[in-house]
Amino acid sequence: MASIVGPEGLEQAAETLRRGGLVAFPTETVYGLGACVWDERAIARIFEVKGRPRFDPLIVHVSNEAMRQACVAEWPERAQQLADRFWPGPLTLVVVKSAQVPDLVTAGLPTVALRMPAHPLALALIEKTGAPIAAPSANRFGRPSPTCAEHVVRQLGGDIDLILDGGPCTVGVESTVLSLVDTPPAVLRPGGVPLEALEQILGPVQKSWTAAEPSGLPKSPGQLPRHYAPRTPLQIVTDPHPIPGRRTGLLAFTMPRDTEGFAHVEVLSARGDLREAAARLFAALHRLDEADLDIILAQPVPEMGLGVAIMDRLRRAAHMPQS
Ligand code: TXA
Ligand code: MG
Repeated sequence: MASIVGPEGLEQAAETLRRGGLVAFPTETVYGLGACVWDERAIARIFEVKGRPRFDPLIVHVSNEAMRQACVAEWPERAQQLADRFWPGPLTLVVVKSAQVPDLVTAGLPTVALRMPAHPLALALIEKTGAPIAAPSANRFGRPSPTCAEHVVRQLGGDIDLILDGGPCTVGVESTVLSLVDTPPAVLRPGGVPLEALEQILGPVQKSWTAAEPSGLPKSPGQLPRHYAPRTPLQIVTDPHPIPGRRTGLLAFTMPRDTEGFAHVEVLSARGDLREAAARLFAALHRLDEADLDIILAQPVPEMGLGVAIMDRLRRAAHMPQS
């Protein structure tokens, strides 16, 4: 079992990464499963431990300008503008990679996904390691992302070297993935930075997280329809009622009028705040999944701000056709 350490274990965590180990660490979005980006053996182990297909590339986390430069071959003006505005923070930029970044990290793509996380422990860990950290979310492939150390322990605790516990994640949904190699820039995954905020800087962006490529392969390899899924079947329902004879769970956006007959109820934000709802989403899904239910009924949230990312995760959890 991986040992769990708090901020006092930072040096141990950095040393583990430098020696080729796998360390789960907190970011402001979700917990990541990190390896030193230059270490191909450690990177390969990430794919194994997660059960992640090799065609799905990893995000590279940097803490300073020199690391950013080491990873990219081209850094367009608008990349700098976006970094100035949103880094450190939940925005991942897809740009042309440098030769140094191992192909395993980018799944053979000529591009690399980069971000500078805002969590102080994540930044300190990258600095102390002295290298960028490649890290997917620290969940098994296709399961809901972890937003606290306990989620990581349950999913991956037996297979990794160390868990750095930094408390619950404040944003709660993964970073927005924006491709700058497309014109206009394409959002490959809605996330912690709302589309509206990006469009203030870039003008209109392509909303590419639902459309498949002509090849039939998703543009962002992580866009498999069934993702973030709890084991319990989930349906999105505007006016949910308990289903007779079945243990029905309710994932409500705001305080529901009537919860009678539901076996388990999770309220994302009693006051209807989308940020609060995002921060609580994955923990609520994890709890519902453990409540021994036959079905989870999830109420839709307004598709604005962080609501776009929340609905994206709910649709993937429900494996419904994307709208
Ligand atoms: O908030 C986050 O982004 C978290 C924390 C740990 O930073 N990480 C995360 O990583 O969500 P992951 O591996 O679960 O999702 C990365 C997404 C995937 O959808 C992947 O396909 C996409 O980024 N991606 C990575 N590299 C890419 C590339 N070169 N081109 C297009 N998409 C890429
Ligand atoms: Mg993930």
